[in-house]
Amino acid sequence: MSSESNLAQIGVVGLAVMGSNLARNFASRGHTVAVYNRSTEKTTRFMEDFGETGNFLPAETIEEFVSRLERPRRAIIMVQAGAATDAVINQLADAMDDGDVIIDGGNSLFTDTIRREKEMAQRNRHFVGAGISGGEEGALRGPAIMPGGPKESWESLGPLLESIAAVAPDGTPCVDHIGPDGSGHYVKMVHNGIEYADMQVIGEAYQLLRFGAGLEPAEIAEIFAEWNKGDLDSYLIEITAEVLRQVDAETGKPLVDVILDAAGQKGTGRWTVKQALDLGVPTTAIGEAVFARALSSSLDQRKAAQGNLPSGTLAGFEELGISREDFIERVRKALYASKLVAYAQGFDEIRAGSEEYGWDIDRGRLATIWREGCIIRAAFLDRIKEAYDKDPALTSLLLDPYFHTELSDLVDAWRDVVIYATRQGLPAPVFTSSLAYYDSLRAERLPAAIIQSQRDFFGAHTYQRVDKEGTFHTEWSGDRSETKLN
Ligand code: ATR
Repeated sequence: MSSESNLAQIGVVGLAVMGSNLARNFASRGHTVAVYNRSTEKTTRFMEDFGETGNFLPAETIEEFVSRLERPRRAIIMVQAGAATDAVINQLADAMDDGDVIIDGGNSLFTDTIRREKEMAQRNRHFVGAGISGGEEGALRGPAIMPGGPKESWESLGPLLESIAAVAPDGTPCVDHIGPDGSGHYVKMVHNGIEYADMQVIGEAYQLLRFGAGLEPAEIAEIFAEWNKGDLDSYLIEITAEVLRQVDAETGKPLVDVILDAAGQKGTGRWTVKQALDLGVPTTAIGEAVFARALSSSLDQRKAAQGNLPSGTLAGFEELGISREDFIERVRKALYASKLVAYAQGFDEIRAGSEEYGWDIDRGRLATIWREGCIIRAAFLDRIKEAYDKDPALTSLLLDPYFHTELSDLVDAWRDVVIYATRQGLPAPVFTSSLAYYDSLRAERLPAAIIQSQRDFFGAHTYQRVDKEGTFHTEWSGDRSETKLN
């Protein structure tokens, strides 16, 4: 063996589950992979468990790890986001040379990535913040990968990442250079925000079928499995059907009934909403989904309110005057329509971020790489890709001709379901708020004219008129005449 063949094409720092699986994925595609973990026991265990399954070069120190990498050196960091990531980046940068590439594959906040990229550029190191989606299984068998960072690093990294990424049905690898500095982590953040909304709308459909139509989890599993053959074909619908079939071994009850209904979060959904607020993008579906998780976890308040707050007069399913089959189909349509709104809003946030930070993100290509590997993978993303391919500057996904036609077919059922949910006293925050968003977009006039006049009344904030140019103020506390200010 030549000494060159003893070098690794890629290195992985951090051998917890995601890092191990990513390292194994690289090795399974024929690459030699250097592996390092802060505590050596994990590296030793990794080599015991998987050393035989590929070409791994274990290292006990960062310096040894770096010395085992082919030039330009490429190392992916898979450690805890935050301070740990900063520490490892600096250790790597110290041990590396000009032009070497440091990749952060964790869920870092994109503003940290922007800062780190700048710091590394000053030291002549290429820094790539790469969003990786697909969970543990995806990391092992093929994730969707969203690398940002300098274009030159993509030249050396692209083929490597393409070799481990998921592959869309048309053969396209689910990885592409997203844009400069923090863009990769930014789109991963919004991906996760969309994921929150997608999970929530599925939850709302379940809630209506279970407690509105009175169906059992196993029956709903069959309905979701059926939905998964049509427009809603997606990983999340598929796994929900499986979840609903699961029976708890201990109690014999459906597992969903014994799981505490308090949803956790690690923060990417919250970041998506915070960023949306900063950019002024109304991602209402993602916001409601994040708040729905927070509300579910407010156990003390919920306990105090359960069976206590007045419900008003509720109508049971029978009183709604439709057949169960009809109800199920309308819920499917409401889910589809609300999901469309969530994605439209997420892609709006991507456009806004791209403009704010000068990233020039191609939304059609982004939809392309979300078609496989990641958690929100769905047949539906093909339609989104086609929409942006046809019109890269599309104002809203909802206005794409294909989705426009779909909405004509969905909107009546969507309205019905919002009414039924309300009549039955069943919460459906994303179904409901998405319809309000939709109607706000469509509205000829919004009550914002009232807001503007109130602002002018109490704070002389001025307003504009629909019929002439200029900025105006009414003398509310005086003679109520109008002044043109410019
Ligand atoms: P998971 O959620 O998959 O368990 P994680 O918590 O995101 O993973 O990351 C854990 C990894 O980060 C571990 O490899 C851990 O190293 P140790 O096994 O030595 O604990 C690594 N890690 C955490 N803090 C670190 C630090 N300051 N420097 C280096 N590695 C660190």
